[in-house]
Order: sequence, then structure tokens, then C-alpha cells
Amino acid sequence: FMLFSGMSNPDLTDRIASYLGVTAGKVRISRFKSGEIYIHYEESIRNADVYIVQSLSHPVNEHLMELLFMVDAARRASARSINAVIPYFGYARQEKKDAPREPISAKVVADLLQTVGVNRVITLDLHAPAIQGFFNIPVDHLTALDYFTEYLKAKNLPNPVVVSPDAGRAKTAEKLATYLDTPFAIMMKKRPAHNEASITHIVGEVEGHTPIVIEDIIDTGGTIISVIEGLLEKGADDAFVCTTHPVFSGNAVDKLNHPGIREVVITDSIQVDLDRLPQKFHVLSVA
Ligand code: R5P
Repeated sequence: FMLFSGMSNPDLTDRIASYLGVTAGKVRISRFKSGEIYIHYEESIRNADVYIVQSLSHPVNEHLMELLFMVDAARRASARSINAVIPYFGYARQEKKDAPREPISAKVVADLLQTVGVNRVITLDLHAPAIQGFFNIPVDHLTALDYFTEYLKAKNLPNPVVVSPDAGRAKTAEKLATYLDTPFAIMMKKRPAHNEASITHIVGEVEGHTPIVIEDIIDTGGTIISVIEGLLEKGADDAFVCTTHPVFSGNAVDKLNHPGIREVVITDSIQVDLDRLPQKFHVLSVA
């Protein structure tokens, strides 16, 4: 097999390569002056099982097009199989129509990947696991829950409670609560507008507990901050926040520097510069 990296997460590719004891293959990815993308594999990939690591993180459309062209080039160069390793699957939050006349963008991404010739997708903590069904090829849907479990168990937190920030994350929260042998609570959220969230009420006991909030994505940080404020209002301690995908748009990192958050535990599904994050951020590798 041969491993290649798109531009979105070369650090993770390097970690995967060193874990496997291999070196990532050479591929040139550049831009023409017009902004168009140029791809060239600089070594033979004939008959190879090619693994391309590319998160669909910001700028998502650039990273998606890069991936599509990398797949096309690999297919035309007679790779035996093409495996798209997409730790963060962008557009996953648009997996259904919430209103008339909207696209199902996650399905479009799935169609594009299959059209150019991807044979298998390996991804992590999809916003909606049903996205697997948008593909007619194998999808390995991995989870970072084991890493969060291991990390949190070692903390021996007093009186922990796993908290789901909304109904959509309840199953994940229940799983984590089972792994950690703790109770769990669910926050009920409404979205008055895009990128805005407000908590209406909490189901479960949080007073005097240390909350462990489990999220798939932190984007603007709006959801997490309203969750944290809701928890503090109900008498909970400061919280541990675990999220697989640190999208961190705008001033999300500043928002997460909230006194009601003791630690933010993230993964390297999206490349972040740890040196630019406050000390309470911890990165667990999913390599
Ligand atoms: C939504 O249902 C997701 O699970 C996240 O809660 C959401 O996308 C986070 O976005 P933000 O940080 O912008 O509130």
C-alpha cells in the first residue's frame, strides 16, 4: 500500500506513517495563478492500494477538490484500489433537508467521491452515522470515544456526569457514560439562526457533578458556551469538553477559554497549531 497526504492534515498523515513504519508518498499539490489545482504523483502508484488522507476542513471546498483530483489521478495511474481517509467529513451537518429547497450536501460529496473512483472511505465520528448509507462502497466509520474514555478514566474525576449538548448526541453520550460507568444528562437545544444555539432545558441530574460534555464538532463554539452556561446555572462544576473535530471557526478558541471549562480535549482529525491554543487544550491523536 502507499499513503499520501492532501494539504489539509499533513501532520496526521506523518503520525499515521510513523505508526505504520512507512514514509508518506510524494505527491505535488500546487495552484495555478488562476487558483486551479494541479496534482502530480511523483512516484509510480501502479497496482498499489493507495490511501489518501484528507480532512474536509476549512477551506472545505479547496480540500474537497484536491481530494477529488488526487483520486482521479490515482485511478488514471492504475492504482489497484483508492481508499479515501477522511478523518473530518465536511458537509456532514447538511445530511437532510431541514427546509424546502435546500440541498443534501453530504450526499453530493458522497456522490462526487464515488464518481471519481474511491473504492473505500475511512472516516471518524460522522455527524450523522446514516451518511454511511449515502455510499455504495465500504465505509469504515471509526470513533474517537475509546481515546476520550482512556484519557478521562485516568483523571479519576469526582462525581462525573456525561452530558450530551443536544438530542442528536444522546446515543454517543450514553455510550461514553457506559464506558466510564457514570450517569448522563441531555441538554435540549434550539437553533434560532445558522451558527446560533440556545439551551431550553436539561434532562438529568447535573448539580454538584463534574460534567463531561461530548460533542462531535465544535465550530463557532456557540453550542458549547450555551451548554456550559446552562450547566453552571444548574449548579454543575466546571466542565471537561471533548470533541472529535475542532473546526474552530472565528473566535471559537477565545470563547472556549471560558472559566466554566476546565479542559478542552480534541483530536487531530483537523490540524490545529497546539502552540497557539491555551494550555487547557489537549490533543489526542487518532493516527
Ligand atoms: C450540531 O448538531 C453539532 O453536533 C454541533 O453541536 C455544532 O455543529 C457545533 O457548532 P457550533 O460550535 O457553531 O455551535
